[in-house]
Amino acid sequence: MSSFYLTTPIYYASGEPHLGHAYTTILADVIARYRRRAGQDVLFLTGTDEHGQKIQEAAAEQGMSPLELCDLMAGRFEEAWEDLGISHDRFIRTTEAEHRAVVMALLERLKDNGHIYEAEYAGWYSVGQERYFTEKEIGPDRVDPIAGGPVQRIREKNYFFRMSHFQERLVRHIEENPEWIVPATRRNEVLGFLAQPLADLSISRPRARIHWGIPLPWDDAQVCYVWVDALTNYVTASGAIDPGAPQEERGFGDLRPSRWPADVHLMGKDILTTHAVYWPTLLMGADLPLPRRILAHGWWVVGDTKMSKSLGNVVDPLDLRERFGTGAVRWYLMREMATGQDASYTPDRFLTRYDELSNILGNLAHRTLSMVKRYRGGVVPDAPSDGLAAETGKALAAYRESLEGYRLHEGFAAAMNLARGANGFVEAKEPWALARDPEGGNELDRTLATLVRTLAILAAMFEPVTPNKAHKLATRLGLDSVPLFPELDALEVGGRPVTVGSPLFPRVDPE
Ligand code: MSP
Repeated sequence: MSSFYLTTPIYYASGEPHLGHAYTTILADVIARYRRRAGQDVLFLTGTDEHGQKIQEAAAEQGMSPLELCDLMAGRFEEAWEDLGISHDRFIRTTEAEHRAVVMALLERLKDNGHIYEAEYAGWYSVGQERYFTEKEIGPDRVDPIAGGPVQRIREKNYFFRMSHFQERLVRHIEENPEWIVPATRRNEVLGFLAQPLADLSISRPRARIHWGIPLPWDDAQVCYVWVDALTNYVTASGAIDPGAPQEERGFGDLRPSRWPADVHLMGKDILTTHAVYWPTLLMGADLPLPRRILAHGWWVVGDTKMSKSLGNVVDPLDLRERFGTGAVRWYLMREMATGQDASYTPDRFLTRYDELSNILGNLAHRTLSMVKRYRGGVVPDAPSDGLAAETGKALAAYRESLEGYRLHEGFAAAMNLARGANGFVEAKEPWALARDPEGGNELDRTLATLVRTLAILAAMFEPVTPNKAHKLATRLGLDSVPLFPELDALEVGGRPVTVGSPLFPRVDPE
């Protein structure tokens, strides 16, 4: 069985989960579920980023110790993910002992390889982004160019990683692997950034200023820079490095059998530089293979402003979930955003997308099941079910290609189109007329068997995005479970007892 390792960013344990976090995580979940359904052995990693100045300050403000705050928030994220149907295999916290040991091992390795030096540093630091920006980036107003927050002038002793040394190699890697960063617009951004000389990366902070972090193995007065700490989580969870092994045997170069490298790192465009520049150069410095792909998605905006806590326009995905159900929230987020581009949240679009589920997919299921009950006593006729064979084949191929190419919105459009086509098939066949026609029996059998088969395929196609509803649908079709893609060809629907049940996506009062 082939394996697939995918990751979300680990979220700052300083704030509550919101729609932006939910989007990245649901995107990852949909891909993970799709891959499992396609028969792969998946490792899906998410978690919380728990060190650094941001957390230290947030905890102080709330009168808690940093770890108390992290415990609380990690719990909040885990609950939110459970509510949103996230099927991660591992939830990592950067305060875990194993992670701490792996970070120290990685730092030691970078130092042994001669890539670390010590220097006095002065620069503009954004606590919001936990990184330095150049004069040019912060502009005359001196604000962080990503979220517009404040920056502070810092001058102190830091250890540096010779990131500049890997610039050429990184550029070559990006040029030789056009699909390494997707979508292409984001890849071009990174290449644009790399057209300037790359500075070295400050990888430590004096403990006197920031105590909440992992100490450098060779200098206890400094803690590891939080992005270096955070990015390393992807290696920790892969099992590539045995932190307990002696230095020479820590699995570097000759890696422990593990899930490393990741097949894909998912993230928003705001944290692309850290993933596409800091992280791969750190890996090069430590002689570790690079992730196979980096996917940066766009932002959810409200109207045309970024969603942010300070602006007070944050959409709470769990609020929507309470009113419309988890499946509806997931569907909206996946269907509405072209993977990679920005999208604007509006209640109207949310309702439009919900109506698709209700009027097209839900309606197809309801009318099909009702007709099987009314005309065939609730048992699927044992007849050829090939009525929509060409449409189904085409939709499945387009769907699978889109999901494997990370164009999820296109894949789900293809799935919804198949449901739309099947509704058209009902109208064209007029099963109600066939039922009255003494000669219509065989045709009615074929029609109903075709519709049930199509619904079974739709259950497989929708399971990654609306898992609960897809399972419910499969059960109503008399299946034990949602079929895997490799099982679809041999799937027999005839003779199965169906249940009609209440609508899968009940109509809601738009108010
Ligand atoms: N802790 C770092 C990541 C470290 S990964 C080694 C971090 N955390 S975060 O809590 O800010 O969450 C970042 C993720 O949430 C990113 O993928 C980001 O793009 C996503 N989003 C936050 N707000 C968003 C929107 N409004 N829209 C879409 N996603 C956005 O950065």
